[in-house]
Amino acid sequence: MAAAKGTTKQTTKPAAAKGSAGANGAAAKTIKPAANKLVSDGTPINIGLTEEQRRGVAEVLTVHLANAHVLYIKTRNFHWNVQSRRFAELHEFFEEQYDQIAEGIDEIAERVRQLGVFAPGTMAEFLQLATLKEEPGVYPDPQTMIAKLLADHEAIIRALREDVEKVDDLDDEGTTDFLTGMMEAHEKMAWMLRAHLVDAD
Ligand SMILES: [Fe+2]
Repeated sequence: MAAAKGTTKQTTKPAAAKGSAGANGAAAKTIKPAANKLVSDGTPINIGLTEEQRRGVAEVLTVHLANAHVLYIKTRNFHWNVQSRRFAELHEFFEEQYDQIAEGIDEIAERVRQLGVFAPGTMAEFLQLATLKEEPGVYPDPQTMIAKLLADHEAIIRALREDVEKVDDLDDEGTTDFLTGMMEAHEKMAWMLRAHLVDAD
């Protein structure tokens, strides 16, 4: 008798679900890869920041995570495709730079997780979130490659300078410090790129 009642209830629920999105119980737990719609962990987190503050900070961080991916791929593209009398030097220089960017990528994503928010981890989300632009099919001369990378680093530095203020307003000193460190790392990479622009190739 009890089983029969259960069966009746179960037939009602899937019918209602079909009417909405055809979802089942498992799909309800799926995290939709929608950029700017950050999802917080269900695990309680009590670090003196409200969920609103943590999500606000995570939103700032995810844009940097996306931009870092674009710049990583761009630098790697130039590592592969640079053509120059100084090929070996530039090939290695670009590799050093993308390795540093990769370290930053991991730190940004893990910072987002420390705030109890899921980090985007798909190319679709990165391209949706990024403010830096890609140039598919474009293979510039070495000096232009360096100038383009420099412009992207400088754009990131300017954004970080503003975001340090924004995150400070959200009272997250940890991320303020983290973003300042990131800014310094990009300033160093930008300096190295700038130093290569002095001589004509
Ligand atoms: Fe390589």
